Amino acid sequence: MTVAVLDTPPVSHPLKQVVLWIGANSGGVSKTTLAIHIAYVMACRGAKVAVLDLDTNVSMSQFTGLDKSPVAGETLAYVLSEHFDGDWPFASPDWGEIKGRIDICRGGPVMAEAGIELANRKRREYLLSDRLSDFPLPHDLVILDCPATLSNLSDVALVASTHLLIPLEPTPKSLSGCDVLLKWYQVSCRALRLNPQPEILGVVPVRYDANSATQREYRAKLPEVLNGFGIHCYPSVRFSQEYINASARGLPLQLHRRHHKACGDFLPICETLSELLEN
Ligand SMILES: Nc1ncnc2c1ncn2[C@@H]1O[C@H](COP(=O)(O)OP(=O)(O)OP(=O)(O)O)[C@@H](O)[C@H]1O
Ligand SMILES: [Mg+2]
Repeated sequence: MTVAVLDTPPVSHPLKQVVLWIGANSGGVSKTTLAIHIAYVMACRGAKVAVLDLDTNVSMSQFTGLDKSPVAGETLAYVLSEHFDGDWPFASPDWGEIKGRIDICRGGPVMAEAGIELANRKRREYLLSDRLSDFPLPHDLVILDCPATLSNLSDVALVASTHLLIPLEPTPKSLSGCDVLLKWYQVSCRALRLNPQPEILGVVPVRYDANSATQREYRAKLPEVLNGFGIHCYPSVRFSQEYINASARGLPLQLHRRHHKACGDFLPICETLSELLEN
């Protein structure tokens, strides 16, 4: 009997890999925008970054200038399917100097079906984690852009992650949403027996408008409230119309308006990520 020999070269593991879950249980709170800008800054610092889009909308493709209608085989739905053969379907945004350092595995409407199909799969919550261990990625940083609801795809992402980052718009409604998210995190980690459980890197206030008295009031309270839970509060990512203009061009803000003050808003988060990758 002949035995087939696998002749594909082994994938080289990075020394450290951070898998960053970016999620919230509300829509339009900059999850995708954060994912893209953190990916861009980290790639500029020399990291190799993969972004896996678990969402059903096409924002990730649109904001990065990629084709918004990939066939299912070019999406994360394929990676999660029973037919996946280990060849991750990545697309790379055409962003000048860093081209090739950011790989994006797109989501989109097919993820709705993928989410429903999970119900019939064994080890459903562990599917992405299993994929990452069976077919490891050579990237230093893997960013998971999660859907706006705490669905079964959020569980899949949580199990695969090493760290969590939670964007929060400083408003009363978002604060109560954050409370629900933290309870979901605790219950899920316990129920899924995550050991070690992914660490909460912090909460980042987003779309912060210093001209709004309500936002100013809630922004000021946030660090103390979060510190009560042992959670770090990052400096804010400010509101700027230029994000909307940049995303319409398929560019990060840094390539749309290089000298815009908001470009520096991601640096504290990226500092933490760089430290995690170096230590
Ligand atoms: N700091 C900001 N200032 C102004 N506009 C922003 C900012 N961040 C994001 N936006 C805009 O807000 C909208 C929602 O952002 P984004 O798609 O990143 O949020 P999301 O949480 O991923 O949304 P969804 O839940 O739909 O996936 C987009 O039009 C984006 O360009
Ligand atoms: Mg999004």
